[in-house]
Amino acid sequence: MPDRDAPSLPCSRCPPSQAFPGLGPSGNARDTFVFISSVSPMNQAASEIALPDADTPLHERLAQAIAAMIEDGRYKPGERLPTHRELARRAGVAIGTVTKAVDVLSNRGLVRGEVGRGTFINAIARPQRATQVDLTLNVPPLLIDEALFIAAAERSARKVLGVPSGGLYDLKGTLAQRTILAGWLGRTRLDADPAELMLCVGAQQAIHLSFADLKRHSRSIACEAATFSGAIAAAAHLDLAWQPVEHDGEGMLPDELDRVLEETGCRAIYATPVCQNPLGFEVGEARRRQIIQIAEKHDAYIVEDDIYGIYSVRGRPTYKELAPGRVYYLTSLSKCLTPLARVGVLVPPEDRLAPLLRALRAEVFGAPPTALELGCALIELGADVVAAQALRKEAGIRTAMASRILGLSSLPMPEGAPHLWLPMPAMDAERLARRSSEHGVRLTPPDATSVGAAQAGGVRLCILAPAERDDMERALKTVARLLADTEDETVV
Ligand SMILES: Cc1ncc(COP(=O)(O)O)c(C=O)c1O
Repeated sequence: MPDRDAPSLPCSRCPPSQAFPGLGPSGNARDTFVFISSVSPMNQAASEIALPDADTPLHERLAQAIAAMIEDGRYKPGERLPTHRELARRAGVAIGTVTKAVDVLSNRGLVRGEVGRGTFINAIARPQRATQVDLTLNVPPLLIDEALFIAAAERSARKVLGVPSGGLYDLKGTLAQRTILAGWLGRTRLDADPAELMLCVGAQQAIHLSFADLKRHSRSIACEAATFSGAIAAAAHLDLAWQPVEHDGEGMLPDELDRVLEETGCRAIYATPVCQNPLGFEVGEARRRQIIQIAEKHDAYIVEDDIYGIYSVRGRPTYKELAPGRVYYLTSLSKCLTPLARVGVLVPPEDRLAPLLRALRAEVFGAPPTALELGCALIELGADVVAAQALRKEAGIRTAMASRILGLSSLPMPEGAPHLWLPMPAMDAERLARRSSEHGVRLTPPDATSVGAAQAGGVRLCILAPAERDDMERALKTVARLLADTEDETVV
């Protein structure tokens, strides 16, 4: 059952007029807004509906015919479908056939029913609800209204036409783009000068660039015993080894880090200080200061991956603010807004900017202007604020739900995090992940995130991944049942 106390989020299913009543004065948003929210009944263009010849049931052929009309633009996004009675008349079928056809279209995500208002054409087809719940993808649902997203896309399309030199203008992105993203960073996590910023293809590229830059300084990277799989992939690609460091509920233990750097000669540290992925904790200021002291003692650099910064409850300072010359700070719009834009930001130590720009040029000649403009337009229209509030709220609700259903006594970030880590011996974790998958729930097994130490046993649950909260609840109940089921598996 959905949580009845849940706040009403501005979501893709809300009519735009309800979700963003104030949107529009900027001009572009209003244009799209009016277009999308138009609820005029269908015009006369579809006075007769011809069903395709096929052996399939009548309602499926009717669904096919309506889908074709949506595709060719006769039924437009935001418009209301004619009533079932009218559709039945136009197609020459019974009303029950229309009801079934609309169900098919709704399952395919092409239309949505709104209580008391009718059936509306979706601007973006929503995927069918899967029978399997996938908790392995650390991707947040799009918690901004579809109309706002489309308004930003339109605005960015107009802007991108004005990017100088056909887009191949500045490796770092245009000054206007960097100014918007520096403003967003300043409001959220870090005061940075637009000139310091490198704009990348997601945080992933920023990680790869940082690791590649550090390779001249260190042959390995220190981090907790489990870390982000994309960082593991980047290190493997660069032939960099990992040095796992023992951790507690606040990340790497300073003494252990000191010992590891001393014994191995490692001079690079990868830190995800908020909602560490997958372990889920946040590092407080005192621990950060200790880690920096040790980095300084060994002349080591820190790659600070602050991609989950919006979930911070301990606030600032970031590592970057404490030691600007020693930290490659990176983040992106993926976790706090949407990964659809794929906009990442890297703020390297000042003296590494020029070599990093050369590396960026060699790799991709800068992030795509279309992506950068979309990210900037979303920020300009305030989508980042709406999304961050909604995501924090949703993460809080789902974290509480997980805590209740799984009977968790303590959580590293009880106020809400996008993923949860259930620690257990690695063998048990692998078994739980396998059994969950057999029961329709996919979990991240420990081998996907481990950097080779025994204490990395556990499974990760990306609790924001399912778009529907009741899918999450169902999945959690399955995991709880499997956790409680201590009986040996029957081998057949
Ligand atoms: C800790 C961490 N860093 C970076 C990324 C990659 O982010 P992006 O989509 O911006 O490349 C992820 C994605 O899951 C992540 O969890």
